[in-house]
Amino acid sequence: MKILPKSFGSNWKSYINLIDQNKIEIMAEDLKKWIDFDVSNMSLIDIGCGSGLSSLAFERIGFRDITSFDVDEESVEVTKEMNSKFSKIKWNIFQASILDDQLIKNSKKMDIVYSWGVLHHTGNMWKAIENASLLVKKNGYFFIAIYTKGPNYQNHLNDKIRFKNGGLLRKKFMIYLNILVHMKSRLLLKKNPFKWNRTKRRGMNVYHDILDWLVGLPYEVASPDEIENFCKKLSFKLIKSDITGEAGCSQYFFKKE
Ligand SMILES: C[S@@+](CC[C@H](N)C(=O)[O-])C[C@H]1O[C@@H](n2cnc3c(N)ncnc32)[C@H](O)[C@@H]1O
Repeated sequence: MKILPKSFGSNWKSYINLIDQNKIEIMAEDLKKWIDFDVSNMSLIDIGCGSGLSSLAFERIGFRDITSFDVDEESVEVTKEMNSKFSKIKWNIFQASILDDQLIKNSKKMDIVYSWGVLHHTGNMWKAIENASLLVKKNGYFFIAIYTKGPNYQNHLNDKIRFKNGGLLRKKFMIYLNILVHMKSRLLLKKNPFKWNRTKRRGMNVYHDILDWLVGLPYEVASPDEIENFCKKLSFKLIKSDITGEAGCSQYFFKKE
């Protein structure tokens, strides 16, 4: 634990070396469960691209017109590195915020707008959802993942604030505490607790996932009903969803009517 990340971007930087063809394939297989139609002539935008892993997986499933952006400079750097290291085509990659109305006004509309685990970290979730939705073409798709609302929201928020404001010792303590929780739950499942740092979905190992959770501020949540109703008012019909419990991201796949 040599470097403690200040932001998502610095967490991605430390994780880029863990990305390999296998992780990209796993992510691509996951996307195919949602997008099971021909995409070779479709455009896609990955809002809050993070490491760029999703953009890579979209290329793997056939997209040729890919735009990726993130508010974090280091995320943009990592995504550019991933693009040149692993892919055959050049994506349009830049630094921007989804809350920037000028950006929304000047952007072309896309066949698929994708934003996984991002819009709740902007500090203005509902505006971010609305701005992202404005980038979807008629009959296009809107694929988002948002933290699920639950009774522990305030405790989770306080933890993240404590981590942000804490010194090195507190930060390390909170990371170790989270690792212990993972080890304990493995023990209860009669699994080897020392193998806690397994690779999870979306290519992250548990350690990076813990850091991703702790640095995740701003932090907002929404219930599935709230998301569905809000998007309905913006002329979207829910096609498919995968709802998880609190502290997890529920996924929503909408079509613009
Ligand atoms: C939890 S990460 C998710 C990254 C990626 N989408 C994924 O699925 O792995 C959240 C990302 O949202 C980005 N982000 C936060 N606020 C943003 C904003 N206003 N506009 C664009 N990106 C933003 C962060 O910099 C970070 O890379």
